[in-house]
Amino acid sequence: MRTLPPRLLLIISAAFAGVVMITLVLLSAAGAVDPIAAAQLAVSVLTLAAAAVIVAAVRRTDGKALRIDARTKREEAALTRAEHGLAQLAATLDGLTGRLEEAGLRQSRVVLAALGEDRMELTAQAERLSQLASAVSRVDATVRESAGDLEDLRKLRHDHEQLARTVLSAVRDLDERLDTLGGAVRDGQADLARSARHNYAQLEALIDLRALLQPRAPLPRLRGWAASPDVLRLLIERIAVDRAKIIVECGSGSSSIWLGYAVQQFGGGRVVALEHDERFAEASRDLVLAHGLQDVVEVRHAPLASWTPGGQAAGRTGEEPGTPQEGPTGPDGGETFPWYDTSALDDVTGIDLVFVDGPPGNTAPLARYPALPVLLPRCADEAWFVLDDTDRPAEREVADRWLREHPELTGAAYPAEKGAMVLRRNPR
Ligand SMILES: C[S@@+](CC[C@H](N)C(=O)[O-])C[C@H]1O[C@@H](n2cnc3c(N)ncnc32)[C@H](O)[C@@H]1O
Repeated sequence: MRTLPPRLLLIISAAFAGVVMITLVLLSAAGAVDPIAAAQLAVSVLTLAAAAVIVAAVRRTDGKALRIDARTKREEAALTRAEHGLAQLAATLDGLTGRLEEAGLRQSRVVLAALGEDRMELTAQAERLSQLASAVSRVDATVRESAGDLEDLRKLRHDHEQLARTVLSAVRDLDERLDTLGGAVRDGQADLARSARHNYAQLEALIDLRALLQPRAPLPRLRGWAASPDVLRLLIERIAVDRAKIIVECGSGSSSIWLGYAVQQFGGGRVVALEHDERFAEASRDLVLAHGLQDVVEVRHAPLASWTPGGQAAGRTGEEPGTPQEGPTGPDGGETFPWYDTSALDDVTGIDLVFVDGPPGNTAPLARYPALPVLLPRCADEAWFVLDDTDRPAEREVADRWLREHPELTGAAYPAEKGAMVLRRNPR
């Protein structure tokens, strides 16, 4: 038969005791039960309840003891199993230890063998490293050498840059020079073209002259120090057209011959050529003789003498020919010019044509100025004055001054090679 659990027994006992006690109190209070009997009954009930509690407590203690015992037994069995397991484990461990030792030994042998191989490998690697180190040191040396080369290269580049700058500046210089040269070439071309035009004009004039006149001997050179064909043609035209008979020439030379032929051919007359230099006077006379013009051309040696405007000639300068002498201002403050000794013209009047081509410019600043004031009074009314070389400033000034001082004259520029000015008295 199953017994009640101690805790339930305890609860039931306590509940029963409680119910009995409450019932007895209620019955006693109601007077249904004698209080004393109720008290005795209550004590009995309580005793029974106490006994039931004790029984329940004992049973509970027993139950616990039984459970502890059972647990102890289970733990003992577990311990036994554990001991058995441990023993088995120990045996297994022993076996394992043996196998591990063997494996350790084998492994050691393998490791040792491997270490031997590694040592060899390491030695080889060390060898390779050493080779590598020497290669690196060679590379280092090469790098250092290359650094030196690089420095050389840098210097070379610097030199090249400097050279390039020099070349560039030389090229610029050359460019400027080429520009200048280009300008010079253009100027030269213009000069050449001008010169070609002049040459053609002179050739044309020479052909005209040769067609008009027939020289009997080789003719002296024209142009340069001598008159040019174009101005000679102008003079010969005047002789041919105006039948000029008395011609005075300042400065003898080639022109004296051409003028002589013209006078001889166109109506007759004479040429008086003034020459300050004895040697050139002689040379010109020789030319005149060579051409058989001695009856037409008279070369007069007229040394330079001081001439004062409005006055008489003051006498010879006493200087060597060609030496620059006094200018417009003389020692006494008045204007004096070295000019041909005017006594060479004493017998010359009624002049039709004057060719002013001397004295040379190196004898005085306005060397040709006296020609007009000296000769104009000896000229015919219709006379012509031709001043050569008016492209030169001195001769231009001479012409300007003549025109300023002689309002009775008219001047016209003639486009000759060296420039010329033609002057005449104004028609009345
Ligand atoms: C401009 S030249 C002209 C001479 C002259 N009217 C002529 O056309 O041949 C003037 C002066 O040059 C000088 N002269 C003359 N013959 C010369 C020559 N062969 N070489 C250098 N000068 C000369 C003379 O003193 C002359 O008076």
